[in-house]
Amino acid sequence: MSRLIDFHSHILPGADHGSSGIHTSLKQISIIHDAGVDTVVATPHFYPHVINVERFLALVNSTAEELISHVKEPSVNICLGAEVLYCDRLESMEGLEQLCIRGTRVLLLELPMEDTWSDELFYSVKTLAKKYTVVLAHIDRYIRRHKSDIEELLDLGAYAQINAYAFASMGTRHKLASFLEGDRVVALGSDLHGADTKSYEKFILAKKRLGDIHDQIMERTAALLSNAEYLNK
Ligand SMILES: [Fe+2]
Repeated sequence: MSRLIDFHSHILPGADHGSSGIHTSLKQISIIHDAGVDTVVATPHFYPHVINVERFLALVNSTAEELISHVKEPSVNICLGAEVLYCDRLESMEGLEQLCIRGTRVLLLELPMEDTWSDELFYSVKTLAKKYTVVLAHIDRYIRRHKSDIEELLDLGAYAQINAYAFASMGTRHKLASFLEGDRVVALGSDLHGADTKSYEKFILAKKRLGDIHDQIMERTAALLSNAEYLNK
C-alpha cells in the first residue's frame, strides 16, 4: 500500500496561528488520521524577524510535548520541522541546522511574496542546497509571478513541495504540470491551519487527481524522511 504523508502542517498547539490550543490540535490530528495519512510533519512558521532559533525551538519542544501527552494511540506518526521564512543571509544564520526536520538535513523554506526576488535569494538557496536538502514550500503559491524563478531555484539544487489543494483548480494544475514531469517535486502538504474537515478533503483529493504521480511523490517523501525522528514512534 502506498504511503500518505502530509509534509506541511501547522498543528502544534499555540506554536503559531495554525492552532490556538490543544483542542484544535487534537481535532487536527483526528482529521489527519481519519483521512488515512500515516505521517504528518509539523512545520510551525519560523519568522526570523520575530523570533530567534533558540526561543523557537523551546516553543516547538514545549508545544510538541503538550500535543503528544494528549494524543491517544494508535495515531498518525508525527515528525517535527519548521517552515523557515527566507531572510537576507539566511545561509549564515546561527543554528539554522536545528530547523531541519528532526533527524534529517531537510529544510522547508518559505519564499517571500514580493514581486521581485533578489539575487541574494538565489545565492542563498544555491548555498543552502550544498549543505541541506532544501525543499521550497508550496511552490503553487508563486507560480503566477515566479514560474521561471522557481525553475531556476530547482536548477540550483532545491526541491519542491506543493500544497495539495492546488490540484483542485484546473488552472493551477495546468501551470504545475511541467514541474510534475521530473523528480524535483518531493512532497505534498495540506498546510493545515485550523481544524476544518472540508479543507483537508482537498489533501486527499490530490491522490485521486495525480494517480501514479502521487505515489511517486510519496516515495520521494518517504526517502527524505527515512532517518526522521518521530514524536510518537
Ligand atoms: Fe505553511
